[in-house]
Amino acid sequence: MAIALLSGINYAQANDTFVQQESGYKGMLDSDVAMFLPNDLSVNHLPRSFSLLEQPTTGAQISSGWRVVPAFSFSETKTRATIAIPEGTSLYGSGEVTGSLLRNGTHVTLWNSDNYTYKDDSGKRLYESHPWILAVRPDGSAFGVIADTTWRTDIDLDGNIQFTSEGPSFPVIIIEKKSPQEVLGKLADLTGHMPLPPRWALGYQQSRWSYYPDSQVKTIADEFRKREIPCDVIWMDIDYMDGFRVFTFDPKGFPDPKGLNDYLHNKGYHTVWMIDPGVKADENYSVFQSGSTEDVWVEDAFGMPYHGSVWPGDCVFPDFTRPETRKWWSALYEDFMGTGIDGVWNDMNEPAVFNVPAKTMPPHNWFRGGDAIAPGSHARYHNVYGMLMVQATREGILAANPDKRPFVLTRANFLGGQRYAAVWTGDNAATWEHMKWSVPMTLNLGLSGQAFNGPDMGGFSKDATEDLWGNWVSFGAFFPFARGHADKGFNQKEPWVFGSEIESVARTALERRYRLLPYLYTVFRESSETGIPIMQPVFFADVTDLRLRAEDQAFLVGSDVMIIPKWAQNPQIPAGWPAVSLVGEDALNDKWQAEIRLRPGAIVPLGKVVQSTNEESLEPLTLLISLDKTGDATGKLYEDSGDGYGYQEGDYLLTEYNATLNNNKVTVTVQSQSGERARPNRSIKVIVVGNGCTLGEAEGVDGKSITVPLHPAEK
Ligand code: GLC
Repeated sequence: MAIALLSGINYAQANDTFVQQESGYKGMLDSDVAMFLPNDLSVNHLPRSFSLLEQPTTGAQISSGWRVVPAFSFSETKTRATIAIPEGTSLYGSGEVTGSLLRNGTHVTLWNSDNYTYKDDSGKRLYESHPWILAVRPDGSAFGVIADTTWRTDIDLDGNIQFTSEGPSFPVIIIEKKSPQEVLGKLADLTGHMPLPPRWALGYQQSRWSYYPDSQVKTIADEFRKREIPCDVIWMDIDYMDGFRVFTFDPKGFPDPKGLNDYLHNKGYHTVWMIDPGVKADENYSVFQSGSTEDVWVEDAFGMPYHGSVWPGDCVFPDFTRPETRKWWSALYEDFMGTGIDGVWNDMNEPAVFNVPAKTMPPHNWFRGGDAIAPGSHARYHNVYGMLMVQATREGILAANPDKRPFVLTRANFLGGQRYAAVWTGDNAATWEHMKWSVPMTLNLGLSGQAFNGPDMGGFSKDATEDLWGNWVSFGAFFPFARGHADKGFNQKEPWVFGSEIESVARTALERRYRLLPYLYTVFRESSETGIPIMQPVFFADVTDLRLRAEDQAFLVGSDVMIIPKWAQNPQIPAGWPAVSLVGEDALNDKWQAEIRLRPGAIVPLGKVVQSTNEESLEPLTLLISLDKTGDATGKLYEDSGDGYGYQEGDYLLTEYNATLNNNKVTVTVQSQSGERARPNRSIKVIVVGNGCTLGEAEGVDGKSITVPLHPAEK
C-alpha cells in the first residue's frame, strides 16, 4: 500500500477517500486480549510499541465467538481502523479531553499540544495522547480498544469507534471482559501499572507561577502552618532558575536551594521543582556544553541541532528516543536532587515551541532512536516526546535517591505513561465551565490508565472569584492529585486570599481530605495493583444501571466514597448511600462543602486531621461503617512507611475489617491481614453511620473485636 506519509503534505488537496484494506494477522495476546493487523503489517516486524510493556508477538487463534473485530481502510494520506459498537454502548476514555464524561458523538485529535486555556481547536486537542477507548455495553460487559500508533490520530466516536491516523497502518488491540473495571485491570497489565507514589504526594499541594524569591516561598509555607490549613508540598515554578536555564538556580532569588529545602522540610513540607526540556543554547552553560559534546539534540531536516524558542529564548531539545540521551538527562538529576528536592515537575514537553504557528517542532525534524526505537521524524515521535522525557527523569531521580519513591508530574504524556509520572491537565482557566470539566477530565484520564491526575485547582489562567475558588476547593480536595496553581499576572489563589469565609471553606475541605488519607492511600495502593482508577465514575457503583452512565458531576473516590459537588444539578446517584460528616461539617446544609456518601456495605478508615502527612494520624484510627441491607460491611486499610520500597519486601500491613449486625449490635473484627508489619498498639473508634446521622459508636483496641450497640431510636 503506498500512502503519501511525508509530513507537511497539504491534506486539503489530498484524496481522503478511504478504501477497504484486507485484514492480515490476527491472534490472541492473552485469554481476553486479541490483536488485529491490516494486511501490510507483519506480526514479526511490528514497530516498537510505546504503550505496551511487551512487544506483541504471535499467539493463539482468535477465540471462537470473539465479538469485537476492527475493519481497516486507508486513503492517500491516512490509515484507519473502525470498530462497530452495539446499540446502547457507552464510550469513555480517549485520554485528556474537555466536555462530558460520556464520549459518544465526540471527536478529538491526538497531537500533544500546548493549548493555553484549551482555546485552540476548541479544546479538542490537548497536552496528552491516549489512543484508547473503553466501551461499556448496556449489560455492563465491556471492551477496550488500543490503536497502537504514536502518529497524529483523530478519534471519531460519532456512531462507531474510529481511529484515523496520519501515519502508517497500526495494530489494533482489543480487550474483552465482563466489566469495565476488569478491562482497566487488563489495560494496566498491558501498558503498565501506576507505581505507588510516596504518601506525601497525596497531600494538598500549593503552587504558583512563581513564588519568588525564596523568602516568598517561606512566607507561603509559614502561612499555611500559622492558619492551620493542611498542606504537604510547595512547588517551585520556572523563576527559581537562572535565566530559565534548566538545572540552575537564580543566584539572586534562590541563592541557597538546599537551605530552602531544609527550611521547608523542617516545617513538614516536601518540595517539587520544575524542569523543562528546552535547553538554552548558551555556550557558557554547562548543560548546553555537555549535551553538545555528547551530541544529544534533536536534529532538523539537515542533520543540524534544531533550535526553537521557549522561556529561555533560543533552545535546543534533547532527543529522548536515544538511550544515550536519556542516560545523560538522568545523570543531570544527581546534583539537582542533592539539594534536597523531593519531586520533579516536567512541563512544556509536548514539546512546546514559541513563535511558530504549529507551536511545536517541524514535523520533519529527526530523531535518531536506538535500541528498539527506529530512527524517525518528529511527526512520528511527537506524541511520545513527553513520555520518553519523564521515563528519563524518573530513572534519574530514582538513581539519585534509590531509597525513595520518585514523584514526577508531567504535562505531556502518552498511553502507558502512568508508569513514569502523574499528570495535570495543563493550563485551564478560572471559569465555571473549566471547573465543571475538571471532573470528567480527571475521570476520563483515569479511564485511560492515568489514575494519578488532577487539574490546576482554582483555575490557572484568569482571576478566580471567591465563589469559584470556594466551590472548586470544596470538591477538588478529593482529586487524586490535589494542587492549587495560578498563572503569572492573575490573582493570588492561596486559600486565605479570598477572605475569612473562603479560608474556612478551604480549611474544612482540606481537613476532610486529610481525614480520608488512610482510605485514599489504601485506594492508591489498590489502584497501583489492580489498574482500577482512584477517581471513578459513579456508574462503577452499578455498571448495569444505565441511569448512571453519563453522571459526571458526582464521582467516586475508590469504590466506597462518593463526592457530590454543591453545584451538581440533579446528579444521578445510586440509592441508599448515607451522607457522612468528617470534621463536624453539615454538608447537606452547607453552601460549599461537597456531600460525601458511603457505599452501603463499606468500612472506610479515617485518620486524625493533621497538617501534613509527616504527622502520625492513626491514633486513634476511626472506622466509618455503612451497613448494607443484610447488615454487613467490609473495608481495608493499607499502611506502610509512606516512602521507599520496604513494602515490596513485606514491610506493610493490609487489614481487612469486617462488621456484622446482630441483635442491634454491630460487631467489628479483623477479618484478615497480610504483610509483615506489626499491628500498631492503637485505639480505634468505630462509628456506624446512617444518612447524615450516627447510629452508634464505640471505642476499643485495634485488632480486638469491638461491639457497637445501635441507638434504640434507630432499631
Ligand atoms: C506552563 C505550565 C504552567 C507553568 C508555566 C510557567 O504554562 O503549564 O503550569 O506555570 O508554564 O512555567
